[in-house]
Amino acid sequence: MAYNLLKGKRGIITGALDEKSIAWHVALKCKEEGATFTLSNAPVAMRMGKIQELAKACNTEVIGADATVLEDIENLYKKSEELLGGKIDFVLHSIGMSPNVRKGKDYGDLNYDWFMKSIDISALSFHKMLQVAEKLDCLSEGASVLALSYIAAQRTFPDYSDMAQAKAVLESIARSYGERFARLKKVRVNTISQSPTATTAGTGVGGFDAFSDYANMMSPLGNASAEACADYCVVMFSDLTKMVTMQNLYHDGGFSCMGISPQVVERLSK
Ligand SMILES: NC(=O)c1ccc[n+]([C@@H]2O[C@H](COP(=O)([O-])OP(=O)(O)OC[C@H]3O[C@@H](n4cnc5c(N)ncnc54)[C@H](O)[C@@H]3O)[C@@H](O)[C@H]2O)c1
Repeated sequence: MAYNLLKGKRGIITGALDEKSIAWHVALKCKEEGATFTLSNAPVAMRMGKIQELAKACNTEVIGADATVLEDIENLYKKSEELLGGKIDFVLHSIGMSPNVRKGKDYGDLNYDWFMKSIDISALSFHKMLQVAEKLDCLSEGASVLALSYIAAQRTFPDYSDMAQAKAVLESIARSYGERFARLKKVRVNTISQSPTATTAGTGVGGFDAFSDYANMMSPLGNASAEACADYCVVMFSDLTKMVTMQNLYHDGGFSCMGISPQVVERLSK
């Protein structure tokens, strides 16, 4: 059921690779709720993924941008304003990649050039998107900017490797830039900390099935799906959350507040 929560709003949604991507679901929900928006992904992902299919379904265009390249981000904002006909009301940063995770490097044997890449792609790109937006003055008053995080920023999940550091930086950027942008333009900046979700990025982490099953057993509501995450993003982009900023918002079925669950006790009881 749609509520027209985003009627008249203009947005930018990054990171939709295929129908499993969280951003893919966010785009479909935003369309359903009355928003117009552009889609963006790294040029290489545009060639490999299915984003054009999504653009067709959403009646929009894809603007290629490597989120680590300032000129690409500038172009993304300028073209989006042009296509959508005004300043941007919401932005989704749904971007993450670690070469160390992808290549199965052990945490005691990380490649530091790749570590820097993980941080640049998964965290600094968020700062870049915010800083370029400020410099171009392309966000509307009270706009909402979101990035997606994971609880490995606070707790240790060994296979998450250097992505844990990237998510900690990402969440810190939301707090620092959130303060600045609130003062400047009442812009809200938040991160949503999502349950394990079976996407290309998610399943690339070693032991994904086990820690997803474990999270599901530990969460009283079970793991949150990508569709449910999209619903939460819509609410955060809407005018119903005008006073929420600088937060890391858990969207995890209760996982983050649990110590142990009856299901886990039962599983471990002899
Ligand atoms: N899947 C999970 O379990 C989970 C849980 C919590 C948070 N997240 C986060 O959600 C976000 C979206 O990931 P997803 O799970 O939908 O997986 P996904 O693989 O579908 O999306 C990741 C996206 O990042 C894009 N990307 C990578 N490098 C880029 C670059 N240089 N410039 C622009 N885009 C680039 C990829 O092309 C891809 O579209 C990520 O930040 C991820 O860390 C995922």
